[in-house]
This record gives sequence, C-alpha cells and structure tokens, in this order.
Amino acid sequence: MPKPKPLAVTVPDTHPFTKALPGVAAKVVFVYAFVRLLGAFVRVAWPYRRELAILTVLGSAWYALILLLPAWWALAASVAALAGSLAASPVRMRVVGWLRGARTRRLVLAGFAETRSANPSGKLPRIAKVTSTVVGERLYLVVRPGQSAELLDARVEELRAAARCREVRLTRDPHRSHRVLLDVVRRDPLSATADVAWSGQHTDVLSMWDPVHLGIDENGEPVHLSLVERSLLVGGEPGSGKSSLLNVVVSHASMCPDAHIVLIDPNEVQFGPWRDRALAYASDSSDDALAVLELVRSEIRRRLALLKTLPGVVRKVTSTIAAEYALPLWVLVVDELAFHTSVVGTSAQRNAFNTAARDIVSRCRAAGIVPLMATQRPTSDVVPTSLRDLFSLRCAFRTTTNTSSDVILGDGWARQGYTATDIDLTARGVGWLLAEAQQPQRMKAAWISDDTIAGLSITTIRHRPPAPPGYPGARPSIAAPRTDPEARS
Ligand SMILES: Nc1ncnc2c1ncn2[C@@H]1O[C@H](COP(=O)(O)OP(=O)(O)O)[C@@H](O)[C@H]1O
Ligand SMILES: [Mg+2]
Repeated sequence: MPKPKPLAVTVPDTHPFTKALPGVAAKVVFVYAFVRLLGAFVRVAWPYRRELAILTVLGSAWYALILLLPAWWALAASVAALAGSLAASPVRMRVVGWLRGARTRRLVLAGFAETRSANPSGKLPRIAKVTSTVVGERLYLVVRPGQSAELLDARVEELRAAARCREVRLTRDPHRSHRVLLDVVRRDPLSATADVAWSGQHTDVLSMWDPVHLGIDENGEPVHLSLVERSLLVGGEPGSGKSSLLNVVVSHASMCPDAHIVLIDPNEVQFGPWRDRALAYASDSSDDALAVLELVRSEIRRRLALLKTLPGVVRKVTSTIAAEYALPLWVLVVDELAFHTSVVGTSAQRNAFNTAARDIVSRCRAAGIVPLMATQRPTSDVVPTSLRDLFSLRCAFRTTTNTSSDVILGDGWARQGYTATDIDLTARGVGWLLAEAQQPQRMKAAWISDDTIAGLSITTIRHRPPAPPGYPGARPSIAAPRTDPEARS
C-alpha cells in the first residue's frame, strides 16, 4: 500500500505592518470588519428606509417622553400621538401612499432582478423617484448603459405579476431615452363612476370649431377634444359604448349652426332620431350608403377646387374661410363600418364603399370634413392598417383580445400595457383614447340619455345650415334639403 503524501500546510507570512505595529493593525482590522458589517446592514435595511423612518420617529418620541413618564405610558402616548396624526385623512393618505410607493419600489426591483434585467455589469435600472397616482404608483426609472426601455418592455408581464397589480405600463421619454416612466396600475377609477353628464346639454348653441366635451379622464378631469382637421376611429365589442360616444359628437354637432351632419347608420335605431337635422342619412342599403359617401367626396372635390381659386396660398378650410364662403364643417358618421364594407351588397359595391371611405379619411383634413367611424369587429380585414393609420384619433372600448385592441389603437400599444382587454365587462363607455402623438389615455365617455337625444334632435333642426350647391336630395334615404329652416322646428 502506497504511503499517503504528507499534507502541505503553508502558514501565511505575517504582514510587515502587523509585525511592526500589532496594536494599530488589530484596530484597523476591527474598523474594517465593522464598516463591512455596517455596509451589509445598510444594504439590507435601505429598501425599508421609509418604514424605518417611521419607527425612528416613534422611537424618538418615546425616548423624549420617557424622561417625563414611566416607560409604558411613554410608549402608549407616542403611539397615540402617531395614530392621532394619521387619523387626519390627508395625512393618512400621504403616509399610506408613501409607504405603498416604498413597497412597490421593492417589488419592482425584485421583478427586475428575477427577470435578469441587470446590465452586463450587474446593475439594475435605477428608480429615481416614486409618486402616487390616481390609479396606483408611477416610478421614474433611469436605465443604465446596456439597458433600454424596449428591453424592459419585453418583461412587462413578469413585472406586472411581480408588482402584484392590474397592469404595468412603460413609456420612454421621447427626448432622453434613458428616462423611462413605469406606471403601476392597481385600480380602475372609471369603472365604478356614475354616468358622466355631458356639459353641452344645457347650452343652446355651440360651434364645431370648438373642442367637444367627450367625457372624463382617470383623474376625473373633463376631456375636451377639437375635431377640426381630425378623424376618429372607434372600436370595441358590441355594447361597449361606441354608438353612445358617436352620439355625443353628433349631439354637439347638432347644436352648431356651422356643422352639417351626414350619417350612415345600418342599425337605424342609433342615429335615426337625427334624420331631420342631418344633411344626408343612409341605413342598410348599399346604394344609399354609397350615395352618401359620394356626396361627401363631391363636396371634398368642390372645396379643394374652391381653395385653389382663393388668392394666396390656402391649404385648408379655416374658420374664417368657412364663414366667408359658407363652408360648414361636415361631421360624417359611419356606424358599424363592417356592415357596408363586408356584409351587404355586391363585391363591387363593397369595394366601392371601401375606396370611398378611404378616400374621404385621407383627404378630409383640408376640406373641413370630420369622419367618425365605428366598428364592432376590430379585425384587420375590416380596419386594415393602411386605413387605421389615417385616423388621427382612435378610441378602443372593451375588446376581447390584445390584437383587436391594437387594430384600433395601433401596433404595439397592448404590449406596452395600453390594452382594451383590461376594461371591465361592466364598464360601459370606458375606453382608451389615443390622440395624435401621445400615449392613450383612459376615458369614460359622457352619457346622453335617449330622451335628451330625442329632444335635441327636434330643437336643433333650426341650426341646420343650408345645403351645398348641387345637392341632390332626391334619394329617399337622403334627407331633402330644407328650404324653410323654421318650418320643422
Ligand atoms: N358612456 C356611457 N355611460 C354609461 N353607459 C353607457 C355609456 N355608453 C354606453 N353605455 C351603455 O351601454 C349600452 C350600449 O352602448 P352602445 O353605445 O349602444 O354600444 P355599442 O355601440 O358599442 O354596441 C347603452 O345602451 C348604455 O346602457
Ligand atoms: Mg352601436
């Protein structure tokens, strides 16, 4: 049996400094160990600094009172003082929001760590600030070299679970791409709100050149949007609130002596009451619907030709030109877009409808035409990307899939957390509104009762502007031009 090799044990040489000054060396080692221990403690305690700060305030109050009272009484008095100050609602809300922010920060950082969001140097994105919002918390992130908003974007599902919330939304600062906003959404303040009253209801006359009151946002602030030079696409499942939103715009337009209303309403029941206020109205007949679109196209042609004859460079119908040349804004409403593009009529008629609708949406801006189209089938065959992208305003009411939501709002919004699938089934009238070049904002549309619509549809007939030159008006579904504005009011 071979003999085992003796173990080679090397004893490290004592450092010359330790040899020379053993007392000082021992102190240095002690201080070094203490600093490391302190560092480790601060690292563990730092995420809990807000909770610790409250405990420190409590401890200090106790310490101060202990000089005056027995220990237990001092403790009871300091707890009572803290509880008393929290009883005031604004203070309590601030403190609770502050603590919730700290908890969200820890959860999100844990989410970053577990989804391996650190850069190659092992650093996680920095959370510069946390604030409370109406729907939850907002984290201001600063991403490090090697990280990006897009990289974090791919992890929103995991981050949502890590933050234990409904939704997580990421928005990159368009000018400084290392700054990223991360919105943690914990509640939907709109789903439980009462019906939103429409502010135009008690007014007599409005102007289509003024912003339209559409509803309220998440903060409860009114949403007013100008529809001039704009076009609106609305989508969502049946019963989600599309026609009601369009009715808000039509109600506004009806009270405007500077607006014509043109309607294509396959259901008849939604916009039927506006028949007499409207310049033209078509329901389920393909011929009538096409005739209405052709009417709008011929008006666009007439207006663009007119603009060319004006002195100087005139690129669009402005309020001054509109007043001078009697060019009211035309609000064209197409409800249930899919009906005429893919359900009724021959294939030639459907193609013609598609072409005319696309032409109108692409050329409406300069001519003072405001197209509003709604679909309950937000699929790419009904609203192809090329058509969707022409709409400057888009509103997605509840949808069942992220794809449908993106068909309305635009590709990629669902991935960033802006998806209409997160709207409660019961939250009718709640939707995501995307206005030019901004993030979508959650909105609850104003609600106008059927009785009010019935009343308005009669009292506003007097506001209908005269028909344009060459207006046909002979078709049964197209309202005949009224010669005497007072006759029907
Ligand atoms: N903004 C709203 N506020 C309150 N209820 C609404 C709102 N919008 C729609 N609703 C309710 O939802 C129902 C269906 O709305 P509607 O606009 O006809 O849906 P859609 O056109 O999407 O099928 C309405 O009859 C109404 O009861
Ligand atoms: Mg409808």
